[in-house]
Amino acid sequence: MEELPKLYRELAAWWPLLSAPEDYAEEAEEYRGLIVEASDGQAREVLELGSGGGNNASHLKAHFRLTLVDRSPQMLDVSRRLNPDCEHVEGDMRSVRLGRTFDAVFVHDAIAYMTTEDALRGVFATAFEHCRAGGVALFVPDHVAETFEPAVHHGGHDGSDRALRYLDWTWDPDPTDTTVRMDLTYVFHEPDGSDQSRVAVRVVHDEHLCGLFPRATWLSLIREAGFEVRPVPLTHDERPVGAEGFLAVRPRSVRERSRR
Ligand SMILES: C[S@@+](CC[C@H](N)C(=O)[O-])C[C@H]1O[C@@H](n2cnc3c(N)ncnc32)[C@H](O)[C@@H]1O
Repeated sequence: MEELPKLYRELAAWWPLLSAPEDYAEEAEEYRGLIVEASDGQAREVLELGSGGGNNASHLKAHFRLTLVDRSPQMLDVSRRLNPDCEHVEGDMRSVRLGRTFDAVFVHDAIAYMTTEDALRGVFATAFEHCRAGGVALFVPDHVAETFEPAVHHGGHDGSDRALRYLDWTWDPDPTDTTVRMDLTYVFHEPDGSDQSRVAVRVVHDEHLCGLFPRATWLSLIREAGFEVRPVPLTHDERPVGAEGFLAVRPRSVRERSRR
């Protein structure tokens, strides 16, 4: 199995200084609205796949009972500190099976780490298995191929005794394949062990390989898993211009429909 980026392994404890939970309030509200609108009025139990540091979850948990799945034990620890009231499970979104169903399944930017159609197929099968009939699945990729533009972002935050700044450069070395590359450079400020009044500065480069697929691929693979699906424009400020998600519903069987 491919290795996760350093950010989700030995650097995971820095995550809250790279990406602060309060910055997710607006987008979490947009995802909540989409899930509620597409559900049949009974969205209560929600499964998030690739929940990372739990930033979206820290807002969504006010409205849903959340089960949070991630491949990284270190990121699950970060999320447990922020969301001690949520259930956390270590698992791979392509293959995890919890043996129960949910009213909705949510997959945010973590789906960017699926770099092949087979990997995406695995995620959609996982979502379908865990979605009750009539339930909803919301997939929110960083990009679709039609609107992808190379971009540079920077940010970071100060903590009580340490600070982080980063530069994130997303580019496409080979426009004929299904991947793009995010080169992240982090600058860490930490107390110098030998002299607490001094700051030690460390720089780390971290390559993230991400998938990039046309809208038609998203739609056909989500349908292949058994869902009905439509693209939805995303309007909140944190996503790139032109960003879109995919809002899917697991159809009820003919018998279930006639019982209603
Ligand atoms: C950017 S973080 C997600 C942050 C999250 N959206 C939040 O609100 O805090 C991406 C996460 O995807 C996880 N991830 C990557 N590949 C995965 C896989 N195959 N299965 C489960 N989690 C995966 C990483 O471990 C990482 O925690």
